[in-house]
Amino acid sequence: MTDQFAYKTQAWSGRFSEPVSDLVKRYTASVDFDRRLARCDIDGSLAHAEMLCAVGVLGEEDLTAIRGGLEAIREEIARGEFAWSIDLEDVHLNIESRLTQLVGDAGKRLHTARSRNDQVATDIRLWLREAIDGIVALLAALQRALVDVAEREAATIMPGFTHLQVAQPVTFGHHMMAYVEMFARDAERMADCRRRVNRLPLGAAALAGTTYPIDREHVARALGFEALCENSLDAVSDRDFAIEFCAAASIAMMHVSRLSEELVLWMSPRVGFVALADRFCTGSSIMPQKKNPDVPELARGKTGRVYGHLVGLLTLMKAQPLAYNKDNQEDKEPLFDTVDTLTDTLRIFADLIAALEVNAGRMRAAASEGFSTATDLADYLVRKGLPFRDAHEAVARAVRAAAERGVDLADLSTAELQAFAPVIGDDAAEALRLEGSIAARDHVGGTAPVQVRAAIARARERLAAAP
Ligand code: ARG
Repeated sequence: MTDQFAYKTQAWSGRFSEPVSDLVKRYTASVDFDRRLARCDIDGSLAHAEMLCAVGVLGEEDLTAIRGGLEAIREEIARGEFAWSIDLEDVHLNIESRLTQLVGDAGKRLHTARSRNDQVATDIRLWLREAIDGIVALLAALQRALVDVAEREAATIMPGFTHLQVAQPVTFGHHMMAYVEMFARDAERMADCRRRVNRLPLGAAALAGTTYPIDREHVARALGFEALCENSLDAVSDRDFAIEFCAAASIAMMHVSRLSEELVLWMSPRVGFVALADRFCTGSSIMPQKKNPDVPELARGKTGRVYGHLVGLLTLMKAQPLAYNKDNQEDKEPLFDTVDTLTDTLRIFADLIAALEVNAGRMRAAASEGFSTATDLADYLVRKGLPFRDAHEAVARAVRAAAERGVDLADLSTAELQAFAPVIGDDAAEALRLEGSIAARDHVGGTAPVQVRAAIARARERLAAAP
């Protein structure tokens, strides 16, 4: 142990007759990962000390000393000069010990009316609140990148798929805007989750509250919490806010994984709809011709890792009796990794989408195959008075005949089409054209370029107000 620390033994060691073994020390310590909470821990301690002083539990001089000491520690940590010690178990005891070393007894008074149980719950909430704000901003950045591509490609025709079979033509802009909707909901979910993250546990102390005349509202205001956790047992024990965040993160990653899967497919030389910039791809060490979509593939893979953290946290809390249990120390690594994974993924995807190259020729050619306008011909027949089921049947027979001859519906003459439905006229050709097909889907949510542009305008307006 270095001289940097005031506490030569664990803060709770007075009760014990022998020290813990090195293995147990390593097993129970969290400082290697919870040091990420240091800034939040210091903010929480400052607010706590200020409140203690305001209610007369802590003297002005002690408060001044604590403030100076904590700011000095903040600097030491920022400069990478703080000597973390596993002997002091976690971030809280490391900082408190150093504070006492720097300012003496005032440091020892900081923990009045507080426990590490409410302290750690507060730290995680502060940390996660900031992480959520970063993620919401990144979701907006990704949406902006998608909207920019959608604008450029608002009239670019591609095949729309169901069952991965060519179904009906859509525009690539419409397809991109589908992801904008998904990521907009993800941002909403994050904002909603933030409201429940943003409640103050401090004041719960170990589990039952404290005998000191604390002012929890004061601390909540100082730390920007919207509300108090209103039951001390619940405040120190539940981690549902972290689970909820991981659920929202899992859904966002699920959306990223769908986009990834499509990018991988679209980039396959067989499909060739898009090209990713080289900086998102890697080559093969054996096959010189390869350009592999590593980034989307990894994002697809990392989605599983985030789901794993969600299930891990749910299982951590399952059947845990009230109130705090040491199990809860295991909440941090999954939470941190979820934030890191989602943050990196969103950052990279905003850049990747902005650099997406679109091959409109390949998309159009693919949309022309597979009878993608067959539904349009059926709708045309309905407009001519046929019941939809009869129209469907007539077109199905026409498709079968065209397929047998290896041609598209649009290649059949009006006379040939009339063999399947006598009401067909020359104007059927327009319904069968790709442009006619997409332009006809002209309602809110449809793929007509005018509607795609309207959706883009709505999204831009919404995003103008986003972080
Ligand atoms: N390092 C602990 C955690 O992460 C802090 C709370 C410890 N409290 C206790 N009574 N052991 O949860």
